[in-house]
Amino acid sequence: MDKIQRIGVLTSGGDAPGMNAAIRAVVRTAIYHNIEVYGIKRGYAGLIERDWQKLATTDVSNIIQRGGTMLKTARSEEFKTSEGRAKAFANMQAEGMNALVVIGGDGSFRGAHAYGREFPLKIVGIPGTIDNDIKGTDYTLGFDTAVNTAVEAIDKIRDTASAHDRIFIVEVMGRDAGYIALYSGISCGAEDILIPETVTNVETILQHIAADKGRKKLMRIIVVAEGDDFGGAQALQQIVLQRFPKLEVRSLVLGHIQRGGSPSCFDRMQASRLGYAAVEALLAGKSGVMLGLREWQILHTPFDAAVKQNTMVQEELLKIAEVLSL
Ligand code: F6P
Repeated sequence: MDKIQRIGVLTSGGDAPGMNAAIRAVVRTAIYHNIEVYGIKRGYAGLIERDWQKLATTDVSNIIQRGGTMLKTARSEEFKTSEGRAKAFANMQAEGMNALVVIGGDGSFRGAHAYGREFPLKIVGIPGTIDNDIKGTDYTLGFDTAVNTAVEAIDKIRDTASAHDRIFIVEVMGRDAGYIALYSGISCGAEDILIPETVTNVETILQHIAADKGRKKLMRIIVVAEGDDFGGAQALQQIVLQRFPKLEVRSLVLGHIQRGGSPSCFDRMQASRLGYAAVEALLAGKSGVMLGLREWQILHTPFDAAVKQNTMVQEELLKIAEVLSL
């Protein structure tokens, strides 16, 4: 394939803190190598609609500390079709863009995988999702920030739970993955943690609550991942109240607050390293891979191997949560 002419960069799927820092790193590394960069708007949709803008170093000033994504993001249905991808390629070709950096999660990498196999493009990925459910990297961009947001919120809930002797059921994000629930739950000393990767036995939770009553332990924090098979915080609250109508039980959903906010130092560091590495990889002729950090070393994983796996149950973390909540 020809040498890299112009690089496109896009963010796709759910936004994650650190995406802006990664865009900044991609843009500045490319410009350092005298290569033009186009910022594609709203993920793959921007490729199909030619919605993009050439970026200068100053366009990415003052964004390293910002949550969200300056390029906006979306989940494009049209790009899932071969017609949509053909349109995107024709647009890129007409603009002399023959390389792409995709910052996103598993859905984004599935799209990148199909696109890169169909057309003569160089494509590399950077894992950006708060869910941390991507293989080939220890952590995804945004996870550290999101989990710290959840920890801060649950700490505050614990104060009021303790003051009123209440049970609080806190739902955190994670449609298919329990990482935010596990990490925030263990860090906040949650008494129970429910995640999508394991089958939830509600009877066990009810037994824990019954045992609390016996030993006069009056408050309890239960962290539930959004995608837990039992059905979320409200469903659990109802079951608990049915069994223990006199207990004070509250439920809340932390929701999208976990996706926003200024990225942590850790996420900014990862974003800067991966953004830099993405451009270096393209220049070295690499394509079809996601760049990740394993033990702080850059690792290349083929797109089809990077997509998420529901079997990533962290048995040891579940055991730790159980033991420490005695
Ligand atoms: O993929 C990240 C994530 O935040 C999931 O944890 C969550 O289920 C989903 O995105 C929510 O997506 P949306 O903002 O489209 O409702």
